[in-house]
Parts: sequence; structure tokens; C-alpha cells
Amino acid sequence: MSLVDLLFLLLLGILAYVWSAVRWRRRSRGLSFPPGPTGLPVLGNMFDIPIHKPWYAYRDLCSKYGDILHFRIFGQSIVVLGSADIIRESLNTGSTNTASRKQTIMLELTGESLNFGFMPYGRWWSRHRRAFWQHFDRDATIASGPIQRDMTHKFLERLLKDPSNLKEHMRFAFGRSVLKLAYGIDVSAEKDEYLAVMDETLEGASEGLVPRKFLVEYLPFLRYIQTWFPGARPQRLFAKWQQAAEKLKDMPYDCVRKCMESGTEAPQCIMSDLIAGLPHPREPSYHEEEDIVKNVCATAFLAGSDTMVSTLLGAFVALSLYPDVQKKAQAELDAVVGPDRLPDYSDQDSLVYIGAIVREALRWHIVDPLGLPHCTIDDDELYGYFIPAGTVLLPNMWAIMHDPETYPDTEAFRPERYIRDGKIGPTIRDPLSLVFGFGRRICPGRYFALAGLFVNIASVLHVFYIGPPVDGGGRPVEVTPGMTDGAMSYPEDARCTIKPRSPKAEALILDSARCAWLRTVANNN
Ligand code: HEM
Repeated sequence: MSLVDLLFLLLLGILAYVWSAVRWRRRSRGLSFPPGPTGLPVLGNMFDIPIHKPWYAYRDLCSKYGDILHFRIFGQSIVVLGSADIIRESLNTGSTNTASRKQTIMLELTGESLNFGFMPYGRWWSRHRRAFWQHFDRDATIASGPIQRDMTHKFLERLLKDPSNLKEHMRFAFGRSVLKLAYGIDVSAEKDEYLAVMDETLEGASEGLVPRKFLVEYLPFLRYIQTWFPGARPQRLFAKWQQAAEKLKDMPYDCVRKCMESGTEAPQCIMSDLIAGLPHPREPSYHEEEDIVKNVCATAFLAGSDTMVSTLLGAFVALSLYPDVQKKAQAELDAVVGPDRLPDYSDQDSLVYIGAIVREALRWHIVDPLGLPHCTIDDDELYGYFIPAGTVLLPNMWAIMHDPETYPDTEAFRPERYIRDGKIGPTIRDPLSLVFGFGRRICPGRYFALAGLFVNIASVLHVFYIGPPVDGGGRPVEVTPGMTDGAMSYPEDARCTIKPRSPKAEALILDSARCAWLRTVANNN
């Protein structure tokens, strides 16, 4: 190559650089990215992003760089939002632009693309959300109260008979109540086909959507490796999860549909209601609407069961560590509800301390420590910084809920912090204003979730004493509270002892469960 050629190439390189710099300047209007660690060329901040329990490291990095923290990996911007005001400004105000979700190949490979919680902002998503909301808004939640109540009473009975399998009982109870509500299906045994399919689909979400766990996320051609290929374990998992998601989508739908078509009385449930509203099969929109019906019901289960299990498990851990909280709650329950019945939703206004426990449980053990990430649709500006289109926005919910300035003695479980003059008062930021997310993406299952947490926590405390676990010699074992890693976090150690408060409490559990079973049998006949 001659010197002239070399000079020509150099000139071309300089021109390309200047051209892209001018274009970038015009696009960013001269604004810079938010501050963050300086990355490497090409790889960017690949090695600066913490992998394990990143919410702790993000909190520390925010105290160094500020509450809007920027990372870039292979040209992808990720912004961590570290304060409640910034989160509100970014995700609530003008939220259309920040209401999308990042689309990754992992959603398809794990079968989770049926979950509308992961769909990008747009008409397809909003049609799902509208159908879902009809069945989970405040009024619909009141209407579904009896289902949650009966499931709670059966859950108490299982706890009484076998207190050692707390998490399994909870998963069974919540899985069951969503099955009943969404599909009208009653399951009585843990080894149920529907529950097995649901568990496999949930496994896809909890294991497959952990960022950077599977190489295929960055090298999409790996998806074409066949399942029989040696070392293709991820491909076998993807196949299993996709099959489970397909089954979850079709199996209950076919069952309810058949029931309706055969003239047998279809179960009263969300699915039968949505099927009744479907257009005629010859209408062009029929197949889309049918898909929405299936996705909405599957999403109710995927989004609604383990969030509840994790929060309630956290509440059990807290209650076993704070006997004084339990005593106060039980004094309130004894005074308001009395020994002859279990608490119900109608007691909500009178059970102020239980309401405060629900709030503190949602703060103390936060289910999704980094929220459910949002994503920008167009270029944006936040507090004078440039936020490019497609940026992933991570609200550090754990840091906000554990900020000692807002919640003094932040690691302690103190429901009293929300009570003033005998009422839940505006003394302190209410966790309910944050833990369910933001803007157009705010959790549409929040009324159902709050009702379920209230009735479960109140009922459990009414009849059980929850204590620390004991060793073989009956001595209490110390439990250190902690959170598991992953997008959805569980208590690391949820061991505790669960005993009925009195023989009368035991009789009340058995009697309430018997009535719940009788109602189930009556409804099924
Ligand atoms: C303790 C219980 C729960 C917590 C803490 C919780 C929290 C959240 C959060 C933080 C989001 C993301 C919001 C955002 O993107 O800003 C969300 C989304 C969602 N939640 Fe919940 N949730 C709970 C229970 C439930 C239940 C019981 C259901 C269903 C019955 C449900 C259904 C959904 C759905 C469908 C979405 C996706 C919304 C969308 O993207 O449009 N959640 N939830």
C-alpha cells in the first residue's frame, strides 16, 4: 500500500469519526451520560457491573457517583436510579417514554414472552393489561375475597398438620388460589399436573432471566445448537421451559373451552369470563383475542404467586425474630376479632397494627430488589443528563427501602414506624407508594396482593405462635436474616417453629378449614 493510500485511509477514518461525533452531539444535544465508572473500550463496563446481590454495590456506587448511575456494555446503556425522587421523576412523570421493557432473546427461550409484564410498551401490551385489570382492580379484588379466604383457611390447616414445610404450603396455597381464580380449577393434591406445569414455567422465569447467566444472551446463534449435542444443557432447559409455557397457555384454556362448548356449566373464573367476550371465530381479530385470554391468565399466575410467597416468607422470618411485634399484633387481634372466628377483609380498618406489619413486611424483605427494569423508547433527558433510547432503567428499590434517613434503624422490623395517633399516618414514606412499581407499569395485581397479605398475616397471627427454629435438644437456633440472589429474592433462611396459640385456636383452624372444604365441594356440584 502506498503512502497516498495510507493518507487517504487515515483521512477517511478522521472524517467518519468527526461525522459520528457531530451526529452524536446533535442527538444528545450536547448533554453527557450520567456519571459512572469509566469502562474499557468496546466491552464498556462489563466488569464493573456487580453480579451477586448487585443492589448493595449499586448503593455504594451511587454514594460515589450520585443517584443516577450510568453503565454501558457493548453500546447498551444501563442506568441505576438510586433515590425515590429520581425514580418518581423518571418512571412516573411522562412515563410513556420509560414504560417499555427491554426485549431479549431470553424471553423467547425461557417461554416467558407470553407474560405481558415483559412485553414492550404498545397496543399489544395495553390490550393484555386492560383485560387483566378488569379482573384485579379494587372491586374485582373484593369480589374474589372468598376464594382467597378459603385458600387461607386451608393453608392454616396444612400448617397445623405439617408445620415444617412452610414454603411448600405457601406455594401450594397461592398456586391454588390463582388456579381457582383464573381457571376455576380446584386442586387438592400437591402432585397435580397443572401445578407441575406452573412450577416448570416459573423455573424458566426465575433461572432463565438472571442477566448474564446464559452465553446465548450475547451470542444468539448458540440457540441453534441441538439438544442432543454434548454440553447442550442450556438448550435442554430452554426446550423444557418452552414446552411448559406452551402447556400453561393451552391446557387450562382447552379445558375451560371444552366445558363451555359441551354445555356443561363452565366454572366461574377469569378465563370463562374472557372467553365469553371473544369475538366470533370468523372475525379477523379472533386469534389475537384468544391469545390475549391465554396470556392474561398465565401472567396472573407467573406474576402473582412467587411474589406473594417471598413476601409472606419474609414476614414469617421477621415475626419469628421479633416476638414483641407478634405480641402486639395478637393483642390487637384478640381485642378486635376475638377467639371465635378468623379475621376477614372487613376487619382491615380496625386492624391498624396488622396493616403496619404488611407495610413493614413489604419494606423489610423486598421481593424484587431492583424492581422490574423499565426501558426507554426514545432519547430522553433526566436531570440534565442524556438517556439514549433503549436504556435499561433499574430502580434500586432495596436501597430506597433500606435508607436509614427515611427509615431509621432500618434493619429492624418496626411496624410502629407507620402509626401515628392510632392510625396509619403520613409520618414516614409509605412503602406501598413504591414497592408495586411505577407509572403505566405499576403492578396491576396490587389490590389482590394486599388483600392476600393482609388476610394471611392476620389469620396466621390469630391462631399461631411463630418462633425461632430449635435444634435437636429444643434449644433456639439463631437465624440471620438475608436475601437470596436473583431478580426475585427469597429469604435465605426461613426456618421457624409454628405452633397453635391454644387448643381453642387449633379447633378454630380445623373448623374453618372444614367449612372451606364444604364450600368447595358445594361449588363443584
Ligand atoms: C407482594 C406482592 C407483589 C409485589 C411486591 C409486586 C410488585 C410488582 C412490581 C414492582 C412490578 C413492576 C412494576 C413496574 O414495572 O414499575 C409488578 C408488575 C406486575 N405485577 Fe406485581 N407484585 C406483587 C403481586 C402481584 C400479584 C398477586 C399479581 C397478580 C395477581 C401481580 C401482577 C403483576 C403484573 C401482571 C405485572 C406486570 C405489569 C406490566 O408490566 O404492565 N403482582 N409487580
